[in-house]
Amino acid sequence: MLIRDEMSRNNGKMSFKRFMELALYEPGLGYYSAGAYKLGEPGDFVTAPEISPLFSRCIARQCRQVFGILGKADILEVGAGSGVMACDILLELEQSGALPEHYFILDISADLRERQHTLVRQRVPHLLKHIHWLDQLPAAEFKGVVLANEVLDAMPVHRIHISKDTEQEYFVNTNNNGFKWGLDEVSNEHLHRRIITIRQKLGQEVCDKGYSTEINLAAESWVQSIADIMACGLLLIFDYGFPAREYYHPERSDGTLMCHYHHHAHNNPLMLIGLQDITTHIDFTAVAEAGHDAGMTVSGYTNQGHFLLACGLMELAKITSYASDERTLTEIRQMQEIKKLTLPHEMGELFKVLALTRGIEAPLLGYSLKDDRGRL
Ligand SMILES: C[S@@+](CC[C@H](N)C(=O)[O-])C[C@H]1O[C@@H](n2cnc3c(N)ncnc32)[C@H](O)[C@@H]1O
Repeated sequence: MLIRDEMSRNNGKMSFKRFMELALYEPGLGYYSAGAYKLGEPGDFVTAPEISPLFSRCIARQCRQVFGILGKADILEVGAGSGVMACDILLELEQSGALPEHYFILDISADLRERQHTLVRQRVPHLLKHIHWLDQLPAAEFKGVVLANEVLDAMPVHRIHISKDTEQEYFVNTNNNGFKWGLDEVSNEHLHRRIITIRQKLGQEVCDKGYSTEINLAAESWVQSIADIMACGLLLIFDYGFPAREYYHPERSDGTLMCHYHHHAHNNPLMLIGLQDITTHIDFTAVAEAGHDAGMTVSGYTNQGHFLLACGLMELAKITSYASDERTLTEIRQMQEIKKLTLPHEMGELFKVLALTRGIEAPLLGYSLKDDRGRL
């Protein structure tokens, strides 16, 4: 109703970006803002911190290295989901005597903020006093680590179509029973400029056949806004995606848009509105360039598998026996979790970790095994 009303005020159509924004974040109705359980086994999809505390404990180690360089510093986690990553990071840092001054959480969803609070109160009540929920980014002069796991993929994107000699943007129109796709002129100049670069990357032959994809300008503005408040520190972005030349690949001619509903993945965002997640992969070249343009240094880019192993995943897991019949149940469970997090055909290769820094010269722990910045 809300979407239809807004469309009827705009000649019966809406940009896909606006549609995705309402479907995911409209207070009380959007996927992330309404009450249903989203993350983990009972929800629609599973993220790395939900798979194993080892993921967050590795990140804690990367934070600890940065605290060693900066002295007293804070953590800001953006888009904290269930709150489990905050609990596990704080537990690990507490154990190693390296708690941050503050652990800030900024989440667009009021419903998730409540769930995070409940989880922290239940799991680590003694650490509750370290966590502060924010309504907006802290004022400038932030010193510390900003974390975003699977946040940029959930930001609303523009969908575009390139053909022989035209460029168009996807809009959503009303249909008798629901919604349908429509194509119209590109709505802003910034998109036009990006399309020119994408066209060059793809080459004429691919464009002649028709190519649909998406452009995530919101992710780039978000990086700019983090750069604006960062006095010194590290911004770590975890997400699925590729460098531009793989993202805008001839074979990906229908883009990377995916929807998740009860662990089923499909590519139709125009159904189950407010009930399913809508995501796109990240163009890490664009995100790194946004950081660079905002005066930050691109300090590392690797895949999740290499990042976690470099942060000491295997030492943290404490697997004592490599003979599978001698392992304890905990070790068997941990081995399964490690495989999910690191193997190339699971999350190990598709998920990437990008580091943007200001005022940190030392090489970062997470990139000591492999750094693929050259591919960006
Ligand atoms: C896919 S979930 C990931 C949650 C968590 N990081 C995890 O890995 O389990 C995306 C999260 O980002 C939040 N989010 C999306 N856009 C945001 C924004 N612009 N600012 C803050 N939070 C945002 C959502 O509310 C949700 O908590």
